[in-house]
Amino acid sequence: MGTFAGFFYRQLTIKPKPLAADVRLDGKTAIVTGANVGLGLEAAKELAAHGLARLILAVRAVAKGEAAREQILAQTPGVDVQVWEVDHESFASLDAFGRRASGLDRLDIVILNAGVKNVDYVASKTGHEAHVQVNHLGTALLSVHMLAPLDRTAKALGTPGRLTIVSSENHFWAKFKERHAPHMLAELDAYRECFKGLDKMNIERYSTSKLLNVLWTRELSDRAAKLQLDVVINTVNPGFCASSLHRTDPQATTAVNLIAWTSAQGGHCIADAAALHGEVRGAYISEQKVKNPSSFVLSPAGKQTQLKLWKETVDLLAKEAPAVDALQRLNSV
Ligand SMILES: NC(=O)c1ccc[n+]([C@@H]2O[C@H](COP(=O)([O-])OP(=O)(O)OC[C@H]3O[C@@H](n4cnc5c(N)ncnc54)[C@H](OP(=O)(O)O)[C@@H]3O)[C@@H](O)[C@H]2O)c1
Repeated sequence: MGTFAGFFYRQLTIKPKPLAADVRLDGKTAIVTGANVGLGLEAAKELAAHGLARLILAVRAVAKGEAAREQILAQTPGVDVQVWEVDHESFASLDAFGRRASGLDRLDIVILNAGVKNVDYVASKTGHEAHVQVNHLGTALLSVHMLAPLDRTAKALGTPGRLTIVSSENHFWAKFKERHAPHMLAELDAYRECFKGLDKMNIERYSTSKLLNVLWTRELSDRAAKLQLDVVINTVNPGFCASSLHRTDPQATTAVNLIAWTSAQGGHCIADAAALHGEVRGAYISEQKVKNPSSFVLSPAGKQTQLKLWKETVDLLAKEAPAVDALQRLNSV
């Protein structure tokens, strides 16, 4: 896992499969972020076709969400498809979305998929570097908000809730030098050298943000288990797929033409991780199988970085979203 040769081989030889027809999600409610386009839309379509009662498309542009809703209903009429606004570049918007989700009478499946890839430094509206804000902080805050409604539904119905965070095989390739800084999130915001030269070519910062997704998933899953929350929390690599994610990366065009899977195939990987794999928790799912994440993630240094990431993220989110009770409860174990 994780070598470039292996990556090319798997892209060329593996064809992700859609969920089998007998996988039924009847009556369930799912939330998918970044569901207006790309892999999120494809995963949402696939879950809807397997019997969801209600599907919430979490999008930053409602008009795009409405267009996605029409596509899903054209394929699977009868699902209650709702479009909810959420902007990962606004803590107030993330918090409002989380509170709205907490009020749902039922929540079974959440896929946190929204993400960006930039080859140049972009400051988000919050002032944090965009990968840090959108891919890590936004995902982390939503993940914490989702636990209570997922757990409540799980305990009422006797089936675990499922929270899936979309990461990437790119996490294997992150150098993540910033982890050595006294405050690594501040260093990620400040450090711009990785947007130059070879690191820029290797999309180092995007890869780091996907490593943060893997580390966050593992720590959140451990803490949720200690609190006896009945939520299966995993992370998924959807494979390298043609989508608008690569729009700022001209280098990716050749690779997309040569080896990319379709967005629908990436959607199959996400739907598979969200609906299957029983009660395996804190897992990294890639090519529709539970696999090992990078050796760094599994190393003592990786565990130390995971804990440091947890602490810094909780401290930051506690200032930005101070009323999120779950954050303090998870931090206490
Ligand atoms: N495509 C690949 O090769 C690949 C490989 C591995 C992992 N992934 C991961 O898969 C996920 C989906 O990627 P994709 O390929 O489907 O990319 P995409 O087509 O560009 O979709 C990204 C989604 O994220 C949303 N988003 C971006 N910024 C947001 C913000 N500030 N607030 C709320 N939503 C925001 C986008 O909304 P707008 O449409 O409004 O911009 C869009 O819905 C990402 O997490 C990505 O890292 C992709």
